[in-house]
Amino acid sequence: MIPVLDKKHIVLGVTGSIACYKALDLASKLTQGGALVDVVMTQSATRFVTPLAFGGITHQPVVIDLFDPQSELSVEHVALAERADLLVVAPATANSIAKMALGLADDPLTTTLLATMAPVIVAPAMDGHMYENAAVQENLKKLRDRGVTIVGPDEGYLASGKMGKGRLVETPELMGHIRAILGKDGDLAGSTIVVSAGGTQEPLDPARIITNQSSGKMGYALAEAARDRGARTVLVTAPTSLPDPVAVEVVRVQTALEMRDQVFKATANAQALVMAAAVADYRPRLASPQKLKKDSDSMTLELTRNPDILTETTGPIVKVGFAAESQDLAQNAREKMARKGLDLIVANDITDPESGFGSDSNKVLILGKNGQVEDLPLMPKEAVAHRVLDRVRDLMAAEKG
Ligand code: C5P
Repeated sequence: MIPVLDKKHIVLGVTGSIACYKALDLASKLTQGGALVDVVMTQSATRFVTPLAFGGITHQPVVIDLFDPQSELSVEHVALAERADLLVVAPATANSIAKMALGLADDPLTTTLLATMAPVIVAPAMDGHMYENAAVQENLKKLRDRGVTIVGPDEGYLASGKMGKGRLVETPELMGHIRAILGKDGDLAGSTIVVSAGGTQEPLDPARIITNQSSGKMGYALAEAARDRGARTVLVTAPTSLPDPVAVEVVRVQTALEMRDQVFKATANAQALVMAAAVADYRPRLASPQKLKKDSDSMTLELTRNPDILTETTGPIVKVGFAAESQDLAQNAREKMARKGLDLIVANDITDPESGFGSDSNKVLILGKNGQVEDLPLMPKEAVAHRVLDRVRDLMAAEKG
């Protein structure tokens, strides 16, 4: 379940493009996330994918005919439009985009689009030359000017066999936009939250680095959760294999020193800093400009201490640290919280296989500076992120008041 999607009514408009198959995946991810998905298909879309396929995924009737006596639209043709929290047209063909721009209402989808007050996302999918056509570009501009969010299209392989711009964006990107729009008035709206993630890399020479096992998953989950709750979110991230979260300001860094500079910059206008990054405590004193040669049997590396970013961040800001410990979890975490001047510390035992590096779940203690302790069971990192942000929200409110 994804909290921002839970029980939200989403109308998924599917129009006649070969990319319809991707809309099945989107319908599935939305439904799994807890959304109630009403699929409205154009006649040509039903030639590519059957309504049965969508109905099987969403467990809701699929609307294809304006005059179908079984359809809710025939009872009250604006019913779907009224209960929708969001409308997503994916894939959107040149034809359906033109109808939207003109305000036509000759099928269930365009009727619903005209009747709704909810936000609308349109994800175009078409041949590259069609997309570039002035008529399509003008229509998209019209929609954008009316407040519609246009997502994509991507560049790449097209159904014609050619390369070009016209591919429907992938599901994760659409999910990101949907979550950001649904969450924009959430309980963190109006605040800026800076999150750090990943393991910093400290170069030894042009080929080698010193780094650690952090996957970045906890930090990315925090950034997505903050975005889903309406915060302006800045993610300062060391290299990871994770895709950039949508609607989050991503700042890429490599070393601890770069991370410090970017965290300082971002926190100048922020109300909270959540440091989930695994920052290297030491860096090689000198990074060799040339690749080091193996010309002796042993070598000694001289390391210099990195600055502590959390300690050095000052100002009226809620500071949250993470403590990965292998012994005396709570006591070590509490000492760290005091030493670094933190409001909150999230501690996990790295010897516990359930809380290991790279896993999708985590088992943590959340300790507050006033002595409160929350001992959370094993849960997905997304759920941990929300529990941390609940506390951050309360701390930010206390700081304000
Ligand atoms: O002292 P330790 O590295 O265990 O503290 C972990 C916490 O401090 C994490 O939140 C980490 O992001 C942060 N940290 C920091 N600057 C460092 C090292 C760690 O802000 N140089």
